[in-house]
Amino acid sequence: MTDRLALVGGALGEEGFDGLLVAAPANLAYLCGFRPEPHERLIALFVPREGAARLVCPSLEEETAREAVGERVELVVWRDEEGPAVALARALAGVGGRIGIEKRYLSVSHAELAAAALPGATLAGCDQLLERLRAVKSEAEIDSIRRAARIVDRVVGFVAVAARPGVTEADLAAECAHRLRAEGGESLAFEPLILAGPRSALPHGRPGAVPLASGDLLIVDLGVSVEGYCADITRTLVVEAEPDERQQETFEVVRAAQRAGIEAVRAGSPARAVDAAARQHIADAGYGPAFVHRTGHGLGLEVHEPPYLTATSEERLEPGMVVTVEPGIYVEGWGGIRIEDDVVVRDGTAEVLTSAPVSLLAREAVTT
Ligand code: CO
Ligand code: CO
Repeated sequence: MTDRLALVGGALGEEGFDGLLVAAPANLAYLCGFRPEPHERLIALFVPREGAARLVCPSLEEETAREAVGERVELVVWRDEEGPAVALARALAGVGGRIGIEKRYLSVSHAELAAAALPGATLAGCDQLLERLRAVKSEAEIDSIRRAARIVDRVVGFVAVAARPGVTEADLAAECAHRLRAEGGESLAFEPLILAGPRSALPHGRPGAVPLASGDLLIVDLGVSVEGYCADITRTLVVEAEPDERQQETFEVVRAAQRAGIEAVRAGSPARAVDAAARQHIADAGYGPAFVHRTGHGLGLEVHEPPYLTATSEERLEPGMVVTVEPGIYVEGWGGIRIEDDVVVRDGTAEVLTSAPVSLLAREAVTT
């Protein structure tokens, strides 16, 4: 962590910043080991280009924060009745020049407080600096994702057993949430997404009190974290019955597209090459407009983070980046099919972290 703070100090110098005010919970976790629940009270870490970092922290979080950050970071605590302005001003005392803020996370009102505490300074957006550092994972970080992947593998395989006619999407989602924790998951990366029948055509639908029926397509998308690091998996299967011809054909298109995507995950390639490989395959099969989202996203302290695998991304893949590859085909009134795995960019062939069987047949999709 001390290394990361020093690394940020160096990067700030190179990019012409005199300091960085960090407010995003995942960035706080990355830099000082303290990951607060996001809420309205100001928690922010000031990292100067040189010198010790200071954490502005509400008194309610003081103990947890102190335990997490140890001696590396100075705490500047504020109480509800006084508000954060004085503590923030103390943490920023003597600071001037060009100060980075995270425009994506710092609220406008907190940015105004920072501006008031820094009369001589210029505030400028600096979101990319930490995004770039976080995008390339150490082997220890990859190992946490690998352990999270083992958990989603097992629980997605459990759904293949439990998805019987009459059980509802919401029942299955609740059982998955329970099992993700029971298997050692720390927290859910998102609520389990389980959609059956024509509803599987909604890429971000919500599980409802909808009973499964024999022959339904069933999309199961699960995410969990271990030591703060997320894994994310999707499998699609058919409830109880053998898949029909159209289901099997469409599934084969998605599976081949996903394999093409994974093969395109190579160090040095632009992120858009992965999207192009998967998308081309789906377009060639005549389903182009039915693939309605990007091919994947980075995985780490957040379940969606850079690099994003879009058709236009200019970002280069680097060894140690971890991304999902998750093409899908969605047909309104019929249903959807998506397959998602987590992949580490390596020099040479990519390493796939998730390993649950890929099959529409529930009996083949059971993990052992
Ligand atoms: Co995903
Ligand atoms: Co997912």
